[in-house]
This record gives sequence, structure tokens and C-alpha cells, in this order.
Amino acid sequence: MTGRYGEPNTLEPYWMPFTANRSFKARPRMFVGADGMHYLTADGRRVIDATSGLYCVNAGHGQPRIVAAIQQAAATLDYAPAFHFGHPAAFELASRLALLAPGDLDHVLLASSGSEAVDTALKVAISFHRANGQGQRTRFIGRERGYHGVGFGGISVGGLPANRRMFGPMLNGVDHLATTYDRERQAFSIGEPDWGGDLAEELERIIWLHDPSTIAAVVVEPIAGSTGCLPPPKGYLERLRAITEAHGILLIFDEVITAFGRIGHAFASQRYGIVPDMITFAKGVTNGAVPLSGVLVRKHIYDAHMTGPEHLPELFHGYTYSGHPLGVAAALATLDVYREQALFARAQALEAEFAEIMISLRGSPHVVDIRPIGLLCGIDLASRTGAAGARAFEMMDRAYHEHDLYIRVAVDTLVVAPPLIATASDIEQIRDSIDRALRQLA
Ligand SMILES: Cc1ncc(COP(=O)(O)O)c(C=O)c1O
Repeated sequence: MTGRYGEPNTLEPYWMPFTANRSFKARPRMFVGADGMHYLTADGRRVIDATSGLYCVNAGHGQPRIVAAIQQAAATLDYAPAFHFGHPAAFELASRLALLAPGDLDHVLLASSGSEAVDTALKVAISFHRANGQGQRTRFIGRERGYHGVGFGGISVGGLPANRRMFGPMLNGVDHLATTYDRERQAFSIGEPDWGGDLAEELERIIWLHDPSTIAAVVVEPIAGSTGCLPPPKGYLERLRAITEAHGILLIFDEVITAFGRIGHAFASQRYGIVPDMITFAKGVTNGAVPLSGVLVRKHIYDAHMTGPEHLPELFHGYTYSGHPLGVAAALATLDVYREQALFARAQALEAEFAEIMISLRGSPHVVDIRPIGLLCGIDLASRTGAAGARAFEMMDRAYHEHDLYIRVAVDTLVVAPPLIATASDIEQIRDSIDRALRQLA
């Protein structure tokens, strides 16, 4: 390949994120366009998108209203300084998000990525306690198999060994709950498994080990997403809420995947009737079209910070791109589309049929568990001996090259999370393609 000025243009210089670079560069999987449920390839194939990009394109690709909003924003106000100055649309977005959120989660910090949102939430948890005269509350409790992005804060509270082991000591004072997943007791459960709610009691043990007065926050995804979709056992999240509340510990729900309709509600918190103290979001808020993320915080957390001299920031934190005009425009248009097309209700209405279609892959080669919830489903494949991840990696590669299917994999789990505009026949097509690809695998 040559570049636009005739210079060499090769695959080599781009160090791709979370990618097997050598395999990719030997046999690339590229997309050159997208519309609706599909990606387009350079050789003219339409590849069905089974994972909404990376769980973000909930309203489908190329949504005209979102495209127009971004174009208009770029032409009107390309950038506004984020510190000490504002632009009206950012306030409109915050107001609309506050209305969508549960309870009194009515203030919003903005950032660009899920990782930044998580870092922001962790810092606000510590500063909140300090503002309340409890500066000793600095510990965090995350969970095994949790994913909270790739910042040092996120990998510290996260529980994916591969994301942690190369990066040294990370944050001090972090402990982890056990994963809620137990295949022997939960395999092929639809929605929240019956077994495992009591695992939340372990939180009491960890809290007392460190003393409740030292703990700032518990951080979990309501449904662990990136690890391969682990729905919470019945009663588990409710118990986490009760325990944290009893000890003055903040509860942070990381809803980067679960917000904006994936589970049939604006936020998964609403499915469980829980009001956490903070919610992190990203991805679906802009339909993936422009990076934008944020943290919703409860009123008392905001209020606790509103002290000190009036000419100084109350929180020494923020990003150049917090509330970027293009991201905000994309988010406002995305929220319009979600509302006008009633996409969260649509996801709810499709949930049972989606689960039935996914569960029908039981019996396909190598499948050892299937976990549907909302429009999200993890499908575990048996790992090859001594080569964890190899089978699903081959499946993903064949799916793209031979079956016109894009699907995300996590080690040996396939994750299906179609755009919320998917029809039952799109979901059947995804299912059939998965089945065909599985039948080719050793
Ligand atoms: C729950 C959760 N938190 C945080 C992140 C990190 O988001 P980003 O990749 O935008 O930094 C992700 C990404 O998948 C996520 O699923």
C-alpha cells in the first residue's frame, strides 16, 4: 500500500489495542463502512454486527439524526474550553441524563472514555469522604472478573488477571469480592441465576477485615460484561446496596455496557430497583459515534464538594475534552433516537425471544454454557487443552472471513449484544452463523 503522498503505508506502525497484532497483520479483518445492523468490507461484503461494535452502537450504525447532529456541531462550535467556560448543550445533556437516571443521581461529570469515567468516580469517592471529614476512607473493593477499563484505577479494582499482571503494584488498598459465576450451579440460566445471591455476604467479611471506616467504595458492574456476560444472581446486588449503605460506603455501578437499553432500561440499576451512589457510563450514550463518557453522582456527593473559596474549582479534576461539543451533540441526538424509537422498551420486549434463540445453541459443538440477559449473551466454549482462547479466536476469525459475522470474544466466550434495532430474524441469522462457524472448529 502507498499513502496519499506516495509514502509507504503498511500495517506495521499501528500498535493495535487489545489485539493479537501479529495475527491481525498476517490476515487483517477490516471494516470500511457501516449502516444499520451491518459493517461493510472493502470487498463489498455486508457483515452482520452481533456485538454493536464494542457494545456501543445501540441504535444501529449510521443513524442519520446522529450523523447530522455531529456534522452541525462541527460546523458551529468545534471546541469550547471545558474549564471555567461552557456551552449550552453540555448543560442540556447533563439535565437530560439526570432525568433518565434513578433516584437522586442528578449531577454529571463528563469525560471521553469509560476508563476516564471510572478514574473520575474513584477520585470523587475519595474526595467525597475527605470533604465529610473521613479522609481515612481510601480503600476500594472490586470484584474478580470485573472490567473497569485500563487506567491504573480501573485495572486495580478490575479483576481480570491478564489486564493486571504486567503493570506492577497498581493502586494501594484494593480488595476483591469473588466472582458470582459458578458453572456447575448456574449453567444455561436465563437472566439472573437462582444460585449465588448469598455471595454478597462476603462483602461483610472483607469490610470487617479492613474495618468499615477505611473503605471508600465498592465498585461493580451490575452485569459483568467484558469478561463474557455474567448476570448477577437474584438478590445479590440488592444485598450489596444494603451492606454498603449500612457502613457509609459508596456503591459505584459501572454501567459502561449495561446503560442505554442493553438490559431493557436506561440503566441496569433500574431493572433492580437500586439507587447506587454513582453510575459510570460511556459507549451507548453517543451510540459510539463520538467518544463521550461520564459519571452520574447523587446530590449529596455534589453538595459535599460545594465548599471553599468561590473563585476556585471545587474539584481539581477534569479533561480537556469533558463535554466536547461533538460528543455532546452526538449524545443529545442519540437520546432523542432512543426515546423516539422507544429502543429500551424494544429491548425489553425482545428479551425473551432473544434468550430462546440464544439458548437454542445448546448442543452446538463446544458450547458449555449460555447466559442471556436483556440483549446481551455470553456463550462459553470449552477451551482447547493448554490453549485458552484459541478456539474462540479461530471462531471470531472464521466468522468474519467465511460467515459475514462480526462477533466479540473474551478468552473462550462469545459475546452477542446486537444493536437494539435488531429484529428476531437478525438474531436468528446471528445464531445460525455462530452455529455454522462452530461446526467447522476442531
Ligand atoms: C464496564 C466497563 N467499564 C469501563 C470500560 C472502559 O471503557 P473504555 O474502553 O471506553 O475506556 C468498559 C469497556 O468495555 C467497560 O465495559
